[in-house]
Amino acid sequence: MTFDLVIRGGLVATAADVVRADVGITNGRIAALADRIVSGDRVIDATGRLVLPGGIDAHCHLDQPMMPGLASAGAAMADGFRSGTTSAAFGGTTSIMSFAVQHRGTSLRDAVADYHRRAEGNAVIDYGFHLVIADPTPAVLGQELPALIRRGHASLKVYMTYDAMRLTDREILDVLAVAHEERAVVLVHAENHEIIGWLADRLEREGRTKPLQHATSRPLVVEREATHRAITLGEVADVPLVIVHVSGAEPADEIRRARARGANVHAETCPQYLFLTEDDLDLPDMQGAKAMCSPPPRDTASQKAIWQGIEDGLFDIFNSDHAPYRFDEKGKLYAGPNPPFRKVANGIPGLETRLPLLFSEGVMTGRIDLRRFVALTATNNARLYGLHGRKGTIAVGADADIAVWNPDLKRVLRNTELHHNVDYTPYEGRMITGWPETVLSRGDVIVSDGMLNAEPGRGRFLEQAPSSALRRHGRVPQWT
Ligand code: URP
Ligand code: ZN
Ligand code: ZN
Repeated sequence: MTFDLVIRGGLVATAADVVRADVGITNGRIAALADRIVSGDRVIDATGRLVLPGGIDAHCHLDQPMMPGLASAGAAMADGFRSGTTSAAFGGTTSIMSFAVQHRGTSLRDAVADYHRRAEGNAVIDYGFHLVIADPTPAVLGQELPALIRRGHASLKVYMTYDAMRLTDREILDVLAVAHEERAVVLVHAENHEIIGWLADRLEREGRTKPLQHATSRPLVVEREATHRAITLGEVADVPLVIVHVSGAEPADEIRRARARGANVHAETCPQYLFLTEDDLDLPDMQGAKAMCSPPPRDTASQKAIWQGIEDGLFDIFNSDHAPYRFDEKGKLYAGPNPPFRKVANGIPGLETRLPLLFSEGVMTGRIDLRRFVALTATNNARLYGLHGRKGTIAVGADADIAVWNPDLKRVLRNTELHHNVDYTPYEGRMITGWPETVLSRGDVIVSDGMLNAEPGRGRFLEQAPSSALRRHGRVPQWT
C-alpha cells in the first residue's frame, strides 16, 4: 500500500503512549502506524524528532467587536482568523476554539452567523466556536440556543464579570438548565463582579490607577468566591463546567474540593499564570499594560500552585486565552497614552507561544512527560469539546493534524519572529528549547522551513459532538 505521505523515524507521542513508529497518511487522515512504512508519495524524515498531535487551543479570542462595558471596549482586536490561525500554526496548533459572542439586545443566532462569516475565507486551520451568552432572553433560551447546540455548538460560555457580559446567578441557572437539557458543557469566567467594582472605585478615588492596581482590584479571593459559586450552580443544574483561566491556589483549591465531593468540574490554566507575575504589571511608561489580563498574573507562590496543578492532574487543559491588542492607540492605549487601568484593553497574545513555552519549561525540565503535555494541549480539549476521534490524537482514522517537533532547537522569543498581528509578546527575550518545525493539517504540510503553505480559507468549521464530560448517568438536577 502506498500512502500520500509518510512521517518516518520519529518518536510518536499521544496522551497514552510514546512509541517509535512511522505514520502513514492518506486522504488527509492517519491510515497506518507501523514499525516501518516503506512506500509513500512523499516522506518527511523525522529522525531525532517528536511526532505529536497538532495542538488544540480551545480558548482564543479573534476578531471580536468590543462593546461598552467590556474592559476592552474602544480597542480593536489585532488578530482576525487569518493572522490568528497563521500564528497558531507556526506554534504547532492545528485547531482552535474561538468565541461567537452575543451582545445584549441582539440575537445569538445572528452573532453566530456573523462569526462564521468572519472565519470563512480566512482561517488556515480548523476552528469551532464556544457560544457566549450575554442576554438569555426567552427566545435565546427557548429556541436559538437549543437549535445551535444541536447544530454542533456544544459548548457555551458565561461571564460572571464585565458590565456588558455578566449574568446574574439566576440567569446563569437559566443557561445551565438549557445546557442540561441539550447536553452542552459550560465554560465560566469566574470573578466576583461586585468586589472588583468596589475595589476599583476605591483605588480610583485614591488615585491609584496604574496597571499594577488592575491586579489589586482583582485579588485571588475574587476568583475563589466566584469559582465556588459557579461550581455550586453547576451542581444544582447537573452540568459539566470548565473553570477557565485559573490563576492561583485559592480557586484551584475550590476545584479540588468540589471534585472530591463528586462535582463534574474541569479546569483550564494559561501560560500567563506560569510565566508572568505582578512584577510584569509594575513597569514604567505603561509597559505593565502589556501583561494586563483578567484574572491578572499573580505572585511566585501562585505560579508554584499552578505548576503543581499542571503536574498533579488538577488541570485538564492548557490554553492561551489569546486576546490580541496592540500596544498603541488602536489597542491597549485606546484611551490615551497614560490611561487608568480600567481604560486599558484587557488581554494578552499567546497563540503561537503557548506550546513552546509549556514544552520548554514543562517537558524539557522534567516537570511533565510528553503524554501529559499532549493531554493538556490537545487530547483533553478534544474530549471536553466534542472533537475526539477526529482531533487531538495520533490514531488510525483521525485527521492527520500533526506537529513534528525538534526538541533540541533553541530559540530566543522575539516578537519580530512571531506571526500574530500584535506588536509585542509579553515573553520577549525568553529562551525556549524545542519548537515545532513541520506542521500538518488534515495531511497538508502547512508549515515547513519557516514558511506557511496554506491558503486562507482552507480551515474548516468543526461541528462539535457532545462532550465526553457528560456523564452517562447524570445526577438529578435539583429542580426535579
Ligand atoms: O483578559 C482577558 N482574559 N481577556 C479576554 C477575555 C476573557 O476574559 O477571557
Ligand atoms: Zn474570561
Ligand atoms: Zn478569554
